[in-house]
Amino acid sequence: MAESVNQHIKPFNTKRNSKGNLEISGCDTVKLAQTYGTPLYVMDEVTLRKIANEYKNAFSSYEKVNLMFASKALMTGAIAQILHSEGFGFDVVSGGEIYTLLNAGIDLKYAAFNGNNKTYDEIENALKNNIGHVSVDNFYEISLLNSIAQKLGKKQKILLRITPGIECHTHEYIQTGHLDSKFGFDLTQTDEAVRKIQNECKNLEITGLHAHIGSQIFETKVYYDEIGVLMKELKRLNDTFNLNLYEINIGGGLGITYIEDDCPPSVDKIAGVILTSIKDNCEKYNIEPPALYIEPGRSIVGTAGVTLYTIGSSKQVPNGRKYIAVDGGMADNPRPSMYGALYSAEIANNKEDMPLQTVTVAGRFCESGDILIKNIELNSPQSGDILCVYNTGAYGYSMSSNYNRVLKPAMVLVNNSQSDIIVKRETYEQLTQNDVLVREKVR
Ligand code: LLP
Repeated sequence: MAESVNQHIKPFNTKRNSKGNLEISGCDTVKLAQTYGTPLYVMDEVTLRKIANEYKNAFSSYEKVNLMFASKALMTGAIAQILHSEGFGFDVVSGGEIYTLLNAGIDLKYAAFNGNNKTYDEIENALKNNIGHVSVDNFYEISLLNSIAQKLGKKQKILLRITPGIECHTHEYIQTGHLDSKFGFDLTQTDEAVRKIQNECKNLEITGLHAHIGSQIFETKVYYDEIGVLMKELKRLNDTFNLNLYEINIGGGLGITYIEDDCPPSVDKIAGVILTSIKDNCEKYNIEPPALYIEPGRSIVGTAGVTLYTIGSSKQVPNGRKYIAVDGGMADNPRPSMYGALYSAEIANNKEDMPLQTVTVAGRFCESGDILIKNIELNSPQSGDILCVYNTGAYGYSMSSNYNRVLKPAMVLVNNSQSDIIVKRETYEQLTQNDVLVREKVR
């Protein structure tokens, strides 16, 4: 049995119940599908809290750690409340994520504002609500942020986002730390950025550096190296500009197990590498241990989430593939069509004794690229069966769309044989509520 939640394919308490149906934390998934309809996102609170605690324990020896959940992976009021109750702060990147936190009663002092093109209104709102810190991404933003802070009469704490020049082996679209990236200052630009802050920005207080190297990362050395770059730069800037930078934010990125072949390191392992690198670099540069921010997203919510679909039509291509189609697809989970992402799945209703068939799971959207899983073995899938796709907690709902004018699914939270709706299914009224019809004479 794998030791860390992110190394599991399934939520923690997943098993077959006496009826032979798949059950998560005591909730029969077939019943969930009947009660709430499909597609349905299911989040297991037990798995979510378990991984949150793994992170807390793994970093408990380091006093100055701040665990910040990367909201972009999954942001709803209930998820934010649960992670807040576990002591997590939040990495936010938009007015919408900020609004969701405030709406859930969470103080913005626990949040860090990231992003490469934050708007005036978003920054103003974040500052008015006393955001913990802002990660400043570019020269334009230094001036913009300072002028807003000045207008509000505030001194805003900032970190400087840098591009550490570290490449990791993940999909090109989710790599961020390599040199030619849209994010952050190149290391040749940090002097100029600091000079600008020191000379022109009385309302900004720079306290540290931020970097993020990518997502769905399985390597550990990249974190060791990233911290090396951050701390070397911290020391250099402190010496050159007589500063007292004392914080590093290393971003997120720890991978999860979508399919058997995936082998991400455990949370303990990654924490060990991070803390060792900090220690080694403190010795190397003779500096005090910095405050550490870490922003995991996928590894916090990914494994806790599954999506339930109902199988509808099927098609056997003569001498070719067998397709089975589900009632969702690229609108509720764009990852397979965007990144070629792979997923594991099984039939949720009692079919374990039925023969396995190799099929391709197609979505319902009008694009041939809308394929959720290519060539997977399922127990004799047929219409009416419930398909459970694992590991959909991260970047599924948060990247969902209304493509083809299909309604966004509901989300339920399960724990201790109880299920609660945490996101309602969208309605057609909501779907059309912002439509403005043309006046008669225009038609
Ligand atoms: N911090 C920063 C500054 C980030 O840009 C990200 C992710 C994270 C933290 C969290 O990374 P995580 O722990 O979730 O890997 N939509 C893609 C993933 C894009 C990630 C973007 N940034 C996907 O579905 O794979």
